[in-house]
Amino acid sequence: MIFDSDWAASDELTEVSDDRTQQCIGLPPRTRPFFCPHFLSTAFLIRSNMRQFQLIATSTFGLEHVVARELTQLGYQNLRTSDGRVDFEGTERDIAKCNLWLRSADRLLIRVGEFPAPNFEQLFDRTMELPWNEYLPVDAKFPVSGRCVRSQLRAVPKVQGAVKKAIVENMKRKYNRFRFDETGTEFAIEISILKDIATLTIDTSGDGLHKRGYREIVGAAPLRETMAAGLIQLSYWNRERVLIDPFCGSGTIPIEAALIGRRIAPGLGRSFIAEDWPWFDRTIWKDVRTEAKDLKLPRISDPILGFDHDPGAIRLSERGATEAGVASDIRFKVQEVSELQTSREYGCIICNPPYGERLGETHEVEAVYREMGRVFAPLETWSIYVLTSNPWFEKHFGMRAPRRRKLYNGRLECQYYQYPGPAPRSEEPPTV
Ligand SMILES: C[S@@+](CC[C@H](N)C(=O)[O-])C[C@H]1O[C@@H](n2cnc3c(N)ncnc32)[C@H](O)[C@@H]1O
Repeated sequence: MIFDSDWAASDELTEVSDDRTQQCIGLPPRTRPFFCPHFLSTAFLIRSNMRQFQLIATSTFGLEHVVARELTQLGYQNLRTSDGRVDFEGTERDIAKCNLWLRSADRLLIRVGEFPAPNFEQLFDRTMELPWNEYLPVDAKFPVSGRCVRSQLRAVPKVQGAVKKAIVENMKRKYNRFRFDETGTEFAIEISILKDIATLTIDTSGDGLHKRGYREIVGAAPLRETMAAGLIQLSYWNRERVLIDPFCGSGTIPIEAALIGRRIAPGLGRSFIAEDWPWFDRTIWKDVRTEAKDLKLPRISDPILGFDHDPGAIRLSERGATEAGVASDIRFKVQEVSELQTSREYGCIICNPPYGERLGETHEVEAVYREMGRVFAPLETWSIYVLTSNPWFEKHFGMRAPRRRKLYNGRLECQYYQYPGPAPRSEEPPTV
């Protein structure tokens, strides 16, 4: 699987349980409790939608285990994690629920088939054998995108063409037709060949899951929402602790943290491509949204703090937080990092300072890292997390990170430097 992608899930009545009390941060129980007033209708939907799909939650390289942990907390088992993806099984309801709730995944795909494809003949024959008619209605629009990595088949347009032709051939036989006008709803198919293994998928998300719907305008170097959610879930932060982002830019980290702290489903403000599919039961989407709305927690008592020296960035952050419905959970302020001071304990700083990627910025950025070292040093009980691509960060910051993790911010290789502080007693550290 190719990691940097925009590419890349079962409810059973017997498993219904009330896990509201076992809730991990930001995640809903897998199914509704028996005593829930909506249970009867949910049970009906579960029975009528028991078809199992092979699902893939795709993620950026380095965040697979965070996505797997989110899926575990959502109640899924038998997860298979590999580069850029987590494979699992689920029903229509799971497709809706995972799209709505996954915070760090890029997309949710249905895996239609996976097989060795060292040549065009095998690619065509195996693709044609797959049960496309179980997914694509007769009028489906089905664009095919592709990518080939470290494989004998390398010509992506030809690979896409072969797959399209094979699917048309399959549909001709199944639907007894010669022509397909593709005037209906869209089923975006992707062929991905990695080391001669072809994976054929249908995207259920549409826009990438980082598009939460809470902002149209972004700052100069915004972090993807999925990445921000990943950084937070890799940290010790929870809603009982103070959180500061001293370089908040357009506010992605504070807003995503507020969504996690308030247990607000990240996809509540948007729609998904699978909602338009004619065979997909629309009441499922309505049901999972209603469930998500019921699960929201009250506002965070100790507001998250977002600072930036750019007043324009602070205005953008405030707008984003209002759109996301978390304005009361965050306090944004124009402030230089050098002015950072707090008497609070056991807080977390999670940030994405400037990297100094552009020519002429190096000295400026080094000075910022030195200033970070100076103002963070007195915060002995705090946990500090810094994402940057700058290889000299630790040197200027003045401290080697006990933990670091390679992550990709877009195509830029970064390190996530982690300086975990002591945990207040009674709190368990994260396991990822
Ligand atoms: C990489 S951007 C952060 C992007 C942010 N995470 C987001 O998602 O939009 C770095 C931010 O640091 C701010 N910044 C740079 N130097 C600063 C300083 N000395 N004090 C405070 N903010 C600073 C910039 O204005 C910019 O918004």
